[in-house]
Parts: sequence; C-alpha cells; structure tokens
Amino acid sequence: MSSSLPAAVLQELTHQFNHELLAAQSYLALSVWCEAQNFSGCAAFFAKQAGEEREHADKIIAHLLDRGAPAAIAAMEAPRQKFSSLGDVALHAQALEQANTKGIHAALDAAVAAKDYPAQVLLHWFVSEQVEEEAWASKMVALVQRANCAGGLSSFDRHVSDLLSTGK
Ligand code: FEO
Repeated sequence: MSSSLPAAVLQELTHQFNHELLAAQSYLALSVWCEAQNFSGCAAFFAKQAGEEREHADKIIAHLLDRGAPAAIAAMEAPRQKFSSLGDVALHAQALEQANTKGIHAALDAAVAAKDYPAQVLLHWFVSEQVEEEAWASKMVALVQRANCAGGLSSFDRHVSDLLSTGK
C-alpha cells in the first residue's frame, strides 16, 4: 500500500491518535476514581468522554487507512489513577484537553506546511472540537473550585452532565 501522506503529517497524526487513545484511558481512570468516591454523575460523564476520545482516535485512524497509511498503534503508558480531590481530577482533565489541543495544532501546522489539504480538512473538525473540550474542562475546574464543601460537590455531581453540556 503506498501512501500519499507527507512524512511530517503522518508523524503528527500518528502521535495525535495515540494521544487520543491515552486520553480515552485517562478518562476511564477518572471515571473509576469518581465512582469509587461516590461521585456517580462525574463517573458517568468521564465514561462518556472516554468513548468520545476513542471515536476521535478512530477518525484519524480511518483517515490514515483511506490514504494508504495503516496506523501504527504505539505502546501506552498507564494513565494517572491517584487523585486527592475532585478539584485535582478537574485540573487533570483540563491538562489532558490542553495537551490534546497542542497536538492538534501541531498536526495542522504540519499539514499546512506540507500543503496537505485532506489532512487540513480533517483537522479543522478537531480544532473546533477542542474549543468545546477546553470549554467544559475550564467550566468544570471553576465550578468544582466554587463548590468547596461536601454539599456543593454532591450537587455538582448530580447535575454535572447538564452543567457541562458538550453539545453531543
Ligand atoms: Fe479528543 Fe478531548 O479531545
């Protein structure tokens, strides 16, 4: 199978879909932590995010296959699993999304430099998606910081999926 993908774009897209897979595992770990702490609303929210990250990886993998570049799945480090509080969890989720945005922008930079129009179109969807992803993560950080008592956190947990609408 010969590929029409410029090498630099292939490298960035490969890095990015592997990062999306790590994000999926990381959200699964956040979901497990939340369930263990009886934050069931947040557990369900993060389980859904884990599924979405997997879909993001699949989108890039499908693009690579369509262009004759079967995806190279990398070995994966274990996601972080220890957190001190729901605030700590929210900050970790925000850091994951910031890292994702950085990777998407690096891939788009490579696609623009290589005049790779198909990859640019693919990545435009991800650029918009990251605006939404960073928005819910920032809101989560702010709301959890504001709910600085057990009652406030329980209320946040009960309403998390309404409060952090991800437009899906
Ligand atoms: Fe694949 Fe949360 O961005």
